Amino acid sequence: MATILIAYSTVDGQTRRICERLGQLLEARAHAVTLVQLTDDRVIDAGPFDKVIIGASVRYGKHRRHVHRFIAENSHKLDGKPNVLFTVNLVARKPEKSTPETNPYLRKLLEELAWRPTHAAVFAGRLDYALYGFWDRQIIRLIMKLTGGPTALDAKVEYTEWEQVEALAERISAL
Ligand SMILES: Cc1cc2nc3c(=O)[nH]c(=O)nc-3n(C[C@H](O)[C@H](O)[C@H](O)COP(=O)(O)O)c2cc1C
Repeated sequence: MATILIAYSTVDGQTRRICERLGQLLEARAHAVTLVQLTDDRVIDAGPFDKVIIGASVRYGKHRRHVHRFIAENSHKLDGKPNVLFTVNLVARKPEKSTPETNPYLRKLLEELAWRPTHAAVFAGRLDYALYGFWDRQIIRLIMKLTGGPTALDAKVEYTEWEQVEALAERISAL
C-alpha cells in the first residue's frame, strides 16, 4: 500500500475526471489517494507522499503557471520518489501527437521545467463547445476546421481513451 498524491490542473473538468478515475483504480488496489486541485494560491507539499501524479490540461498552447510552480517548489522531493506527469489536450487525439515523445505541449513543458518525471503520459481531452465562451468557441472551432475536427456547435466529443487511463493506473501501482 502506498500513499499517492494526485495533483491536477483543469479548467473544464476533463483532467479532474481522469484523475478521479485514476484515484478510484488506485484505491481499488488498496492505495491511499489524496486528490488535490492545483490553483494559483494553493501551496501543496508533495513531501509526505510515497508517489505523486501530476495531471494538467492545455489551453492556448500552455499548461497553467501553477503547474510550473508546483513542480518547481517540489522538484527535489519529487526526485526522491516515483512520479508521473501527464498532459491533456486535443492535439493528442491525433495518433502521431499522442505520445510523450511526439506531443508538442508535453515536450515544451519538459523543456521549460528542466525536470524529468519518472514517467510521462499524454491523454486526448474533450471537446464541448457548449462549455466555451463566445471567443473561445470561435477560436477552437477554427482550429478544429483547420485540423479536420468537429465544427458543429452542439458537438461533444470525448477523445480520452479510458483503457490508457487504466494502463497508467496499473503502471503507477507497480512503480
Ligand atoms: C480555450 C481553449 C483553448 C484550448 N487550447 C488548446 C491548445 O492550444 N491545444 C490543444 O491541443 N488543446 C487545446 N484545448 C483543448 C483542451 O486541452 C481540452 O478541451 C481538454 O480536455 C481540457 O481539459 P480540462 O477540461 O481539464 O481543462 C483548448 C480548449 C479550450 C477551451
